[in-house]
Amino acid sequence: MISLGIESTAHTFGVGIIDSKGKVLANVKDSVTTKSGGIIPLKAAEHHIACCDTVVKEALKKSGLSIKDVDLISFSQSPGIGNCLRIGAIVARSLSVIHNIPIIGVNHAIAHLEIGKLICKTKDPVMLYASGANTQIIAYENGKYRIFGETLDNGIGNFLDGFARELGLGFPGGPKIYDLSLKSKKYIELPYTVKGMDVSFGGLLTNLKQKIASKKFKKEDLAYSVQETVFAMLIEVSERALAHAGKKELLLAGGVGCNIRLQEMCDKMCVDRGAKFFVPQNEFLVDNGAMIAWLGLVQFQNNGRMKLKDAIIKPYLRTDDVEVYWK
Ligand code: ATP
Ligand code: FE2
Repeated sequence: MISLGIESTAHTFGVGIIDSKGKVLANVKDSVTTKSGGIIPLKAAEHHIACCDTVVKEALKKSGLSIKDVDLISFSQSPGIGNCLRIGAIVARSLSVIHNIPIIGVNHAIAHLEIGKLICKTKDPVMLYASGANTQIIAYENGKYRIFGETLDNGIGNFLDGFARELGLGFPGGPKIYDLSLKSKKYIELPYTVKGMDVSFGGLLTNLKQKIASKKFKKEDLAYSVQETVFAMLIEVSERALAHAGKKELLLAGGVGCNIRLQEMCDKMCVDRGAKFFVPQNEFLVDNGAMIAWLGLVQFQNNGRMKLKDAIIKPYLRTDDVEVYWK
């Protein structure tokens, strides 16, 4: 069986093609980038409209298949920016109707988790999902992927991108902050906000804005200190989730997971407590079509067929709203 997945929750329009053995045949994407500032929903949607046909064609070409070989169209249905999700859903429904292919909508956060499990061959991990809009610690318990902890305000990526904007570094800011951080080892004390199992970044961003405005601190020292602080917050709650859920595997997901320092800190924590740390290649950490194709295929094969009328977007559906019937 061949599944074609369409990702369009935010800045990326991605198309992935995967077979039922989990072999990724194509994983093509086109993402919005800007020299300064963040993303504007309407502009991102326009970007997706402009590139959607090229990305679909490119993915088919890479896989060596034609649309006639595709048995399932999968798309990211939730959660995400409405303007952006809508474009992916329209492309998916069009392909489904024109070529008479079954369609299925999937949850983006769970897609991150299931592709990580596939690529890293983990069984029952706690997932640290650190992306632009989302920061959640997720693990399976009693029929659902439960959220053990999460951000109370911004996602960590959006926070890092906001901080990068203040430094005039452009979007996406995560990689630029990482590069800058390598030039420093000087730790500046910053607010550390963990509340129970949740984290928060809003106060820290305000504090950083003040520090930048004061011109008393070097950019690289701030970049280094920010990473050390916010990643330590994520590690603290991840470790507690591992202990609470009695699990032995930590899986990293989301674009911020590309950060080498975060990966080092995850690894160290896992070694210290006798757990195993897993991280897939960057192309499966950032938003991508392959993960949507894979979750669609898994759900479909477990009787998760969807009527065309139900193939609509659900921008606010949460990870723990989804019944995990395919485990
Ligand atoms: P989601 O919809 O799952 O919330 P997203 O749409 O924000 O995700 P992702 O691609 O998962 O997209 O994550 C984007 C974030 O990852 C951005 O904030 C970006 O700065 C950050 N990022 C990307 N690459 C790196 C990197 N190499 N190091 C650090 N951060 C990175
Ligand atoms: Fe994502």
